Amino acid sequence: MASGTKFVGATPIPFHRACLGEEEVAAVSEVIRSGWLTMGPKTFEFEAQFAKYVGARHAVAVCSGTAALHLALDAIGLKPDEEVLIPTTTFTATGEVVKYFGARPVLIDVNPVSLNIDVSAIEGAISARTRAIIPVHMAGQPCDMNELREIARARGLHVVEDAAHALPAEYEGRRIGCISELTAFSFYATKTLTTGEGGMLTTDSDEYAARMRVMRLHGISGDAWKRYGKNGSWFYEVVEAGYKYNPTDLQSALGLVQLTKCDASNDARRRIAGRYSAAFGDIGAFEPPITNPGRTSAWHLYILRLRLERLRIGRNAFIEQLKERGIGTSVHFIPLHLHPFYQRAYGYKKGDFPVAEAEFERCISLPIYPSLTDVDVERVIKNVKEIAIDAAR
Ligand SMILES: Cc1ncc(COP(=O)(O)O)c(C=O)c1O
Repeated sequence: MASGTKFVGATPIPFHRACLGEEEVAAVSEVIRSGWLTMGPKTFEFEAQFAKYVGARHAVAVCSGTAALHLALDAIGLKPDEEVLIPTTTFTATGEVVKYFGARPVLIDVNPVSLNIDVSAIEGAISARTRAIIPVHMAGQPCDMNELREIARARGLHVVEDAAHALPAEYEGRRIGCISELTAFSFYATKTLTTGEGGMLTTDSDEYAARMRVMRLHGISGDAWKRYGKNGSWFYEVVEAGYKYNPTDLQSALGLVQLTKCDASNDARRRIAGRYSAAFGDIGAFEPPITNPGRTSAWHLYILRLRLERLRIGRNAFIEQLKERGIGTSVHFIPLHLHPFYQRAYGYKKGDFPVAEAEFERCISLPIYPSLTDVDVERVIKNVKEIAIDAAR
């Protein structure tokens, strides 16, 4: 750190800190003491509570959000040489799961305000091979689900929602998780509900749920818990070549406790977002995030856009200065078409998606989590403002 920088003496504010308490410690301890660590009663209870929470008929727990997306595409029977439309502004998991099938992720530019898939660009990207759309609710703000569902209906496509950021979020009064045929959540360490690593699929389809339950555990009929339980039997059959995607009961015990805190944690995030936006809204160098009407955001991320034309420094220098002042930030996301893999495998190049590139160049994700204190929030605001004032043109 350069001498004379401003966080000497002050505790750094990390970009993220998982908010776990003694309740989680007790829940995990109980599982350890029970003697049954892998998928079992806690997982089935977590699934039931989660399904109820989002309003879906079924919830199927898995070991990651990536596994959830993979099993969702397996459920719809994605085939090699088919295509799946995804936004370029997302984490690579959204695209890599399409590649698992030998199918092709077809990238789409994003809406400059929401950073979600640009619905007006979808029709032009549909081909005879298009099978599905994976909308990603960036930062927790729901996509244009009515428009997406209408396109999907008219063109006979599946919709698999990537809701890694979207617990709990609502679209026209309905929770994300009960709108499309399949929705995939992530419980990765930084997510709004965390089990360290983990994920969940929700669906109203009995058929999809049954398939996903079999495929998450090696393609065997009946799970280990049932085999080893009091009334269980040693017998099982392998009916498919499945995956090892089940969660453990340690993770599910964490998830059950975290789920009870979900609403309060969302309120805390919304309050922090409100304070940031009130502070940054009247400063010319900033463009705070907007939640579109009829939606509520999970506020997984608070993405502040810089108006670079009003500043003498770029986004990277802005982040460096915040770091020197002890404030952790991140960037979501480097668009997929700028990564070597997507360029090499599919021929994408810089310039292909101008909106995603322009927004990427000017976005900063600020700390937003329930354990951020009022003093922390004030410190973030003060430092962000000071840097902008110092660097104003
Ligand atoms: C948009 C998006 N989709 C999918 C994933 C994958 O989730 P996981 O890390 O739980 O596999 C993530 C993040 O981690 C993500 O941000």
